[in-house]
Amino acid sequence: MTNLEELLRERLQTAYETVTGETVDPLVRRSQHAHFQSDAALPTAKRLGTNPRALAAEVVAKAELADLCSAVEISGPGFVNLTLSDAALAGLLAARAADERLGVPTAAEPERVVVDYSGPNAAKEMHVGHLRSTIIGDAAVRVLEARGHEVIRQNHLGEWGTPFGMLVEHLLDIGEAEAAHELSVGDLSGFYQAARAKFDASEEYRERSRRRVVLLQGGDDVTLRLWRQLVAESQTYFLAVYGLLGVRLTPGDFRGESAYNEVLPSVVEELSGLGLLRESAGASCVFPGEHRGRDGEPLPLIVRKSDGGFGYGATDLATIRYRLADLGADRVLYVVGLPQRQHLQMVRETAAEAGWLAAPARAEHIGFGSVLGPDGRMLRTRAGVSVKLVDLLTEAVTRASAVIAEKNPELDEAERAAVARAVGIGAVKYADLSIDRQKDYVFDFDRMLSFEGNTAPYLQYARARICSIFRRAGQQPDRSGAAAFVLTEPAERALALELLGYGAVVESVGESLEFHRLAAYLFGLAGAFTTFFEHCPVLRSESPVRESRLALCDLTARTLAHGLDLLGIESPDRM
Ligand code: ARG
Repeated sequence: MTNLEELLRERLQTAYETVTGETVDPLVRRSQHAHFQSDAALPTAKRLGTNPRALAAEVVAKAELADLCSAVEISGPGFVNLTLSDAALAGLLAARAADERLGVPTAAEPERVVVDYSGPNAAKEMHVGHLRSTIIGDAAVRVLEARGHEVIRQNHLGEWGTPFGMLVEHLLDIGEAEAAHELSVGDLSGFYQAARAKFDASEEYRERSRRRVVLLQGGDDVTLRLWRQLVAESQTYFLAVYGLLGVRLTPGDFRGESAYNEVLPSVVEELSGLGLLRESAGASCVFPGEHRGRDGEPLPLIVRKSDGGFGYGATDLATIRYRLADLGADRVLYVVGLPQRQHLQMVRETAAEAGWLAAPARAEHIGFGSVLGPDGRMLRTRAGVSVKLVDLLTEAVTRASAVIAEKNPELDEAERAAVARAVGIGAVKYADLSIDRQKDYVFDFDRMLSFEGNTAPYLQYARARICSIFRRAGQQPDRSGAAAFVLTEPAERALALELLGYGAVVESVGESLEFHRLAAYLFGLAGAFTTFFEHCPVLRSESPVRESRLALCDLTARTLAHGLDLLGIESPDRM
């Protein structure tokens, strides 16, 4: 056990139990005044009707802290300030240096977690919302796997429903070869817009499209073959984008809307049998929870439309049932934009009312805001159309390449290309993950590619600089577990505390999926390292301080790389 907060918490909790006979959370947190503080004496004394300072004194007297703390002081009305001893810090650091998990605890009760992310729509361009979903979902997968959970990735592709009548007709119009060409080079929006234009302009085309949908849903062979072609070409294109992004989505993770087509009637039957279905304007609907529309009337989730067809809602009900009942998920995460909050809430509530979703299983919406342009409005190109994802990513890499060429002209071309990719893609991901995901953010190449501030290049550079220390020293980091830490300077203690806090941060991010907290931690760690490096000579100091400082450098580099990897970001050794 190398989680410091947890250690202190346990010791104080035992003391509280001895003194009060009750289980008290000692409320341990990092402190401005000492290394840590415990704030539980005040609320506990209030509850018991005693004096908080006296209670704190009694607890401190009973607590076994001698092996951890060099000072334990009571301040103000009853706060307990805890200062770690150098020996304790050194011991914990030595254990950490030998720990491949870097203090990230394995979940005591591993869960099976389904993560629904990316979810682009076939034969339609991916937009920045899909970018956010893909990046955030990938980070979720990585953090949950690092915690030892079993993760099932689900790419809920939109490839079913009415638009596909129109799209298949367009494919027939232009010919299969031409369609395959347009889609495979990624001209999805051109394809979609051409179909849409005909649909909007001609009643004859609309009629053809409607007939085509009926054929598609009726399982007509020719229609299905053409539809499959549309989907396959789109998937190839999406996989190319995922490859560029370096996310862990594979063909096996695709499970789109069409996968649920056959079970949709059974969803209607089941909900009807449970008495949850009501007719509304000719459609079969559920009315979960207390949702009301703008007119103040109860808001339905449509299960079967008046024409007998099924839509997005019905599919999502079949999907949540599949994930809980068939996949046996303990936790289902929907990494989907905030505009779908109410829809997903209604899906979840219906699942609960139907008995599919029952505690301890849980379903959560991991919602996110919009990506804005410099004008503060939804990101668009100058022509006013939504930005193509690949263009955005390619530009990030191009710009990163220019920055790297300027910073480090010595890198050969191949290495520069690899570094530019890591930095460019890393910058885009980090800009997204480092702010509270519920918020909108402005997409700004200059800011995200800056080597200063809370950016990926700053963190990557901090780590690359540490690699260069070892290159200059002409030695490999010693990870035999023999490294002895000797702490003498305040900046070393501060860095040690940051390093030892890593596991707890990853643990809590695995619950909250608030990746900006991991980003903020890494930024803080890089800051603590910079201060340390300014105040504490490494290569110029004498043994054993030199070895200890080198070990601190190595632990910092490993923690930065590990944390960045959890965010899906690579760490080049040289920049
Ligand atoms: N295809 C949807 C969209 O583009 C996202 C799918 C989200 N997942 C879900 N189960 N509804 O908005």
